[in-house]
Amino acid sequence: MHLTTSYPDGLYIEGIALTDIATRFGTPCYVYSRAALAAAYSGYRNALDAQGFGNRALICYAVKANASLAILNLFANLGAGFDIVSGGELARVLAAGGKAEKIVFSGVGKSRAEMRAALAAGIHCFNVESASELTQLNAVAGELGTCAPISLRVNPNVDPKTHPYISTGLKDAKFGIAMDAAFALYQHAASLPHLAVKGIDCHIGSQLLDPAPAAEAMDKVLALADQLAVAHIPLTHIDVGGGMGIQYQPDKPAPTVADYLAPILAKLSDRHEQLVLEPGRSLVGNAGLLLTQVMVLKPGEEKNFAIVDAAMNDLMRPALYDAFHEIVKVGAGDTPQSFESDRRECRAVSGKPSWRTAKHDEQCWEIVGPVCESGDFLGHDRALALAEGDLLAILSAGAYGMAMASNYNTRPRAAEVMVDGDQVHLIRRREEVAELFALESVLPAG
Ligand code: LLP
Repeated sequence: MHLTTSYPDGLYIEGIALTDIATRFGTPCYVYSRAALAAAYSGYRNALDAQGFGNRALICYAVKANASLAILNLFANLGAGFDIVSGGELARVLAAGGKAEKIVFSGVGKSRAEMRAALAAGIHCFNVESASELTQLNAVAGELGTCAPISLRVNPNVDPKTHPYISTGLKDAKFGIAMDAAFALYQHAASLPHLAVKGIDCHIGSQLLDPAPAAEAMDKVLALADQLAVAHIPLTHIDVGGGMGIQYQPDKPAPTVADYLAPILAKLSDRHEQLVLEPGRSLVGNAGLLLTQVMVLKPGEEKNFAIVDAAMNDLMRPALYDAFHEIVKVGAGDTPQSFESDRRECRAVSGKPSWRTAKHDEQCWEIVGPVCESGDFLGHDRALALAEGDLLAILSAGAYGMAMASNYNTRPRAAEVMVDGDQVHLIRRREEVAELFALESVLPAG
């Protein structure tokens, strides 16, 4: 939301018209704003500084949200650390200039090769999620003649009240170590020669609009930290995970970072431990959009379809989670209207043969991609006045957009560009079809 500005000649990001980006780089194209990324990072820094955490908070950007080298590099230059979940993400962060000593390594299944690479790099901490991982990490660190810094990721059994696919802190999730088992496992970890117990970690889910569940989880985490201190296992950091939600639609506002963090920080203010945060979506989600062009209009008796050149392989959140992304026209004279009112009009007339909305020229459209699946949609019931060739912007697409893109239907992945004032930089060129099967071979003849 609020990434674009409307001018008579169409929508802009910073000083660049989206129509110019489409002409120069083609569509579909992910477009990010450097200023918006920097502002989101400052939002965290300022909220932490204001609450007195300036010197003892490490913001570890969750790379999975958007792993673009340019974005990692931008955050590294702003002083961020990184939350990684694979050896691939480790390599990316290091290639982008991230500092190993500011990396935390999350994830339920780390291979020995990944453990070795992270130990060799000298990361800040491994967030360990099982007894078996502790044993394996101790062995790998022993082989390398070193000691692995660890936290245990605990599962607080708290309902984050978000989509079940992105909810991680309930008992039945594969994530984390049950609260009841954690104390004994810490004692075991402390007894292993090649592990150094450093912290505790907890991440209960993503797209959380209410901080109460995270604050409730923090009570459980801190009680365990205190119990450990009494047992002579003092912790030097507390990792509160990520999860803060963003605004995807006008009627569902998100809290500010300061408001979201306030109840969590209040519980930590009298303590001495370093604070680690792992925000992903809230740093990048509203700093990017997906630019696409209407290829075919296919009005029908039941529904009108606008087939655009982006699809579920480019942005799979709608297909996977039924996620809502606001979609606006970007061309000259198309002022983006408040979607809510349009949708009401759209529904009010739905079912009637014309599917026309109350607004002149607008009709209700299913915005879909060319992929051969009925689940390939980007937006339902959108009231827009569309013509073939129109450009559309799919908003709030900076997080888990390009990061989850695939080559399904042998579709090259989109280009990515970063706007910086009145400059625009290509940060990832569009894939070419030949590259998509360059790693493959046919069977030998005969
Ligand atoms: N830390 C851990 C251990 C995580 O598993 C995640 C996200 C994060 C941090 C960052 O969470 P965030 O601040 O972005 O909410 N693909 C889904 C989201 C999956 C989130 C997975 N874990 C989506 O498109 O909504």
